[in-house]
Amino acid sequence: MAEAEVTELFDEHEIATRVEELARMAVDRLPGNFVIVGLLIGSFVFVADFIRALHRIGCKPGVEFIRLSSYGLGRESSGNVRLIGETEMDLAGRVVLLVDDIVDTGRTLLYARDLLRERKVANVFTCTLLDKPSRREVVINPDFVGFTIPDVFVVGYGIDYAHQYRQLPFIGMIN
Ligand code: IMP
Ligand code: MG
Repeated sequence: MAEAEVTELFDEHEIATRVEELARMAVDRLPGNFVIVGLLIGSFVFVADFIRALHRIGCKPGVEFIRLSSYGLGRESSGNVRLIGETEMDLAGRVVLLVDDIVDTGRTLLYARDLLRERKVANVFTCTLLDKPSRREVVINPDFVGFTIPDVFVVGYGIDYAHQYRQLPFIGMIN
């Protein structure tokens, strides 16, 4: 596939500053013994930085991941979310902070939140680094949002376009 042009939206420093703020916000609202459940693949870089930001302010969360699939190779979510990778930890009775890279239509986060509720977790909070509220098709408002963005297609910092660009240390938009 041809490389698209990437225009920087948030640089490494802006992301790091916001991740520290999100960590403080989470610690203020959640009990000390919560478990982070990241959504693979897109959230892996964010989760890695987020848990270390939490550590620096004295919080030691559990960390788990689930893998969902909804996207094909295009830019639109298929809307058809499937679970393709499971957690190891029993989450029943735990307070969970569900973490994703970006909320677009909201279908992925809603599916994951409902899945966790079915597993009888004590409570689910939701956190996304990026939010595109203008694209929402279902009702879900993340408890913690890093950056609210317009309807643009973003890549980098774990976020891909057709399996590319995850390695970018910044977040950019492609045309
Ligand atoms: P939703 O189910 O429509 O909310 O889509 C959420 C998922 O789609 C996110 O977890 C991302 O993996 C992916 N996604 C949404 N918007 C973008 C984008 O702008 N760039 C890359 N991936 C995106
Ligand atoms: Mg994703």
